[in-house]
Amino acid sequence: MILYNIIFMADLTNFLLNRRTIRKYSSEPVNDKLLNELLMEGCRTSTTGNMQVYSIIVTRDTNRKKELAPLHFNQSMVMEAPVILTFCADFNRFNKWCLLRKAEPGYDNFLSFMTAAIDALLVAQTVCIAAESRGLGICYLGTTTYMAHKIIEVLNLPKGVVPVTAITLGWPAEQPEQVDRLPLEAIVHNETYDDYSVERINSIYREKEGRDDSQQFVTENNKETLAQVFTDVRYTKTDNIHFSKILLKVLHDQDFMNNA
Ligand SMILES: Cc1cc2nc3c(=O)[nH]c(=O)nc-3n(C[C@H](O)[C@H](O)[C@H](O)COP(=O)(O)O)c2cc1C
Repeated sequence: MILYNIIFMADLTNFLLNRRTIRKYSSEPVNDKLLNELLMEGCRTSTTGNMQVYSIIVTRDTNRKKELAPLHFNQSMVMEAPVILTFCADFNRFNKWCLLRKAEPGYDNFLSFMTAAIDALLVAQTVCIAAESRGLGICYLGTTTYMAHKIIEVLNLPKGVVPVTAITLGWPAEQPEQVDRLPLEAIVHNETYDDYSVERINSIYREKEGRDDSQQFVTENNKETLAQVFTDVRYTKTDNIHFSKILLKVLHDQDFMNNA
């Protein structure tokens, strides 16, 4: 048993350190039995107060994928992957249960949205690990929160439900290079937050900035620095403000901002 555990742990470490996002998928389907296993395992993850204030929408239908694709900015994996999973913060089910049981729900507020969003993200990531551990590939779709208002329409989400993330899921048709990560010392603070000096920032980002792929990124985007690719091209202030307004309206419309 101990030997089994040691081998299992070594495999787990190896698996966690070697994962990567997959954006190209083969046409091989992901069958219902396998998908259900992943979802069952995902739903075993921690959840606030054991309330499970999330829902998962499974999209396999090509026509519905065609409706979702533009909302995910036509990222090719949305049509290519056999399955899209949209993870939603969901107090609708729990509120209904409370009302049917003479209990008055107080979950139409921002804190409850955060609670449900955290629950939804935890289950999403656990489904991803379950999938990747079987050799499946996943890609998160950040566009979910940008276009939440439209996704709500396509997926018929009632009040109390907000999509917080989505993934494409399927069998990999690529084995991309792993991308970099910052060194652990850049991320981890012992006991209290150790704010970053100029020297530390320079040292932390030196390797990332020096990588060939980073430099290619800078050149392709006609920018002077890698940071400018993020601020001026990928995640701009204008876009962030625009999509923030949309998301805040979604939270209002879906009844998460009462009493705020
Ligand atoms: C919340 C979130 C949203 C993401 N959105 C997208 C996306 O819309 N399109 C995409 O190609 N990758 C997306 N990704 C994947 C990241 O780009 C990827 O995880 C990152 O570049 C690191 O690569 P790796 O996962 O292979 O280590 C997203 C990841 C997260 C966590």
